[in-house]
Amino acid sequence: MPATISVNSAEFPIPEDPRTTLLDFLREHVGLTGTKKGCDHGQCGACTVLVNGVRINSCLSLAAMHEGDAVTTIEGLGTSDAPSALQRAFVAHDAFQCGYCTPGQICSATALLDEIANDWPSDASGSLEDRITATDDEIRERMSGNLCRCGAYANILAAIREVAREHRT
Ligand code: FES
Ligand code: FES
Repeated sequence: MPATISVNSAEFPIPEDPRTTLLDFLREHVGLTGTKKGCDHGQCGACTVLVNGVRINSCLSLAAMHEGDAVTTIEGLGTSDAPSALQRAFVAHDAFQCGYCTPGQICSATALLDEIANDWPSDASGSLEDRITATDDEIRERMSGNLCRCGAYANILAAIREVAREHRT
């Protein structure tokens, strides 16, 4: 039985070349091109995916490190017929221009909702122990690893703010 990685609830064999990054595995082996390669150096966030519910930069991780893990990509969060709440909000708030960064933004924001709901503090949190509120500063800090070269930040913030406040209550 070959070692596998679960991607959006389907199993795929780990590539033979141990140098294959998780990002290249997803795009070139699994054929899911929603996850984007921006810098390939951990600096832009375009490659963000969820591993066991936690966000990571897939360009900085080797596929071989993820045996048995559950990876969720943008394709696993929603479809055009059944978008997630964040995907709907990004459309409603016009939160993308070229859209290249958008899959990473939405994967990051999906994890952000759980981080805030679970009261995981960030550098913008006033206390390590209090309940976390989805303030604009909190959202900006948590999304700071996702760059958008088109500068759609104001609308991205508005989209995440709307969903985060519903999610937190
Ligand atoms: S492609 Fe991974 S952070 Fe830029
Ligand atoms: S919408 Fe173009 S890089 Fe973000």
